Amino acid sequence: MDMNQSAKLKKQAAEAALSYIKNDMVVGVGTGSTVNYFIDALASLRGRIDGAVSSSQASAAKLKALGIPVYELNTVDEVSVYIDGADEVNRALQMIKGGGGALTGEKIVASVAKQFICIADQSKWVRLLGQFPVAVEVIPMARGHVAREIVKLGGDPIYRDGYMTDYGNIILDVHHFKIINPREFEERLNNIAGVVTNGIFAARPADVLLLGTEQGVEKIQAQ
Ligand code: 5RP
Repeated sequence: MDMNQSAKLKKQAAEAALSYIKNDMVVGVGTGSTVNYFIDALASLRGRIDGAVSSSQASAAKLKALGIPVYELNTVDEVSVYIDGADEVNRALQMIKGGGGALTGEKIVASVAKQFICIADQSKWVRLLGQFPVAVEVIPMARGHVAREIVKLGGDPIYRDGYMTDYGNIILDVHHFKIINPREFEERLNNIAGVVTNGIFAARPADVLLLGTEQGVEKIQAQ
């Protein structure tokens, strides 16, 4: 699939998510190129929604530029719906995320949201998670320690050179993990001292996947 086709499918999935947005809602907004299409579409509902809570500085800047009010998560009572992309998603709607480095903010807003709608093009749909490297956000002083623990778990950690997260931390992109039980693996990684969070989203999977395919947008519920 060429880039233009993949962009078209991302845009279709993103626009289909508008049907989950109701008047006066505070909308949780993820990060990435698919979400950027969603933010563009959300601008058409400006004035009808209350505003947004953002998972990253990048999405917050784009929302504000389009005139959509952005609230701090701590100042809102609830987030009805959270819209975000994924790097991989399986039948249980568990995901690998964090290719864009915003995994921590994404995991926090996803945990608060009542409903998580994942928007993706068909290239993200997988039987088993793990081809895409797992991003791990790490407190800088723990970089060596976390890398050694990850090697013991069978992964090959690569330092994301020159990248700093919204929270001043570093990212290790871990290749070659065998993720048999995503939920257990997510927890195991989080238990390493110095890990802030990791890009396996299994404890809080999506509720609905809107998958952009050549045949149109498929709506898939968790199985
Ligand atoms: C960012 C993410 C994104 O949702 C994921 O990387 C997918 O990105 P894109 O929509 O650009 O393909 O988790 O941290």
